Amino acid sequence: MLLHTANFSVILDSLDSIHPIFIHETYMADNDSVQGGKNFGIGIPQASEGFFLKGCGHLDWGMKSRLAQVFSPKSGCTVMLAFDHGYIMGPTSGLERMDLSIVPLIEYSDCIMCTRGALRSIVPPTCGKPLSLRYSAGSSILTYLNDECIMDIEEALRVNAALLAIMVAVGDQKHEGLTIRNLTKTVDLGTKYSIPTMGVTAVGKELVRDARYLSMASRVCAENGAHIIKTYYCEKDFEQVTNSVPVPIVIAGGKKLPEREALEMAYAAINDGAAGVDMGRNIFQSDAPTAMIQSVREIVHNGMKPDQAYKMYQDLKASGGN
Ligand code: R5P
Repeated sequence: MLLHTANFSVILDSLDSIHPIFIHETYMADNDSVQGGKNFGIGIPQASEGFFLKGCGHLDWGMKSRLAQVFSPKSGCTVMLAFDHGYIMGPTSGLERMDLSIVPLIEYSDCIMCTRGALRSIVPPTCGKPLSLRYSAGSSILTYLNDECIMDIEEALRVNAALLAIMVAVGDQKHEGLTIRNLTKTVDLGTKYSIPTMGVTAVGKELVRDARYLSMASRVCAENGAHIIKTYYCEKDFEQVTNSVPVPIVIAGGKKLPEREALEMAYAAINDGAAGVDMGRNIFQSDAPTAMIQSVREIVHNGMKPDQAYKMYQDLKASGGN
């Protein structure tokens, strides 16, 4: 039976006054239990939940949902496994055969950070980890870095990205403007589909990685709309960096360090207000990468002290964990 517009308004006004058969034939799949509601929780205010990540409380539901996949709502932190280095460096040490070196580590990460090439060729779509997609690309280490463009947003949708990672080179005489424009465009595109953006601060060799520079670079990213910042740790005054930026910061591991030092760095960064790590070489170039990533996890999520984490690393390594 077709329903006339006039009847439709009658249904809205008073469902009870319409014969159940009429409702059944037009709108209702099953009207046997149609009855007035009773449990309105009168006197109980509806919970109004805050959001656990710094500076992200006013974001759209989709953005928050994606961020809650990347960061643990329990600890507020993340262990991202970064293996996007090949996009500028080629087959660097530890990434020659990512199917052998990286895939076994993925299960210990909270999020993977990689290029679309690595994703499609070696990452199992069944891995169940959110993706921080390397969203900018351009020049390699053989020329001048940071001369980059960004990808189509449809590509990020196709691969179900949870985060768009974009290089931003504050202080780069040649490409600072280009990379900040790339960030701006990425934030605009990501916002259309509620995909958050992570500004990745690229620090040129001529620049000093101190708190002053890192706060400046990170703050520029945040002010231009980045929802997350990835930057480097500095021993002196790193809490100034985390405190001068209104959104979460994760640290890159940087060049390979002895395992104990890398664990100490992760602990110090979390202690100084970082919301996790986006770590590559200090994991996949370790003597025992699975032992290392598990030890980093304990620091990031459970506040394990470096001594204990290093012992855990040694024990796992000795017990055959590689
Ligand atoms: C750098 O451009 C890449 O995006 C890496 O993902 C980043 O540097 C983190 O890796 P690592 O811990 O090896 O520094």
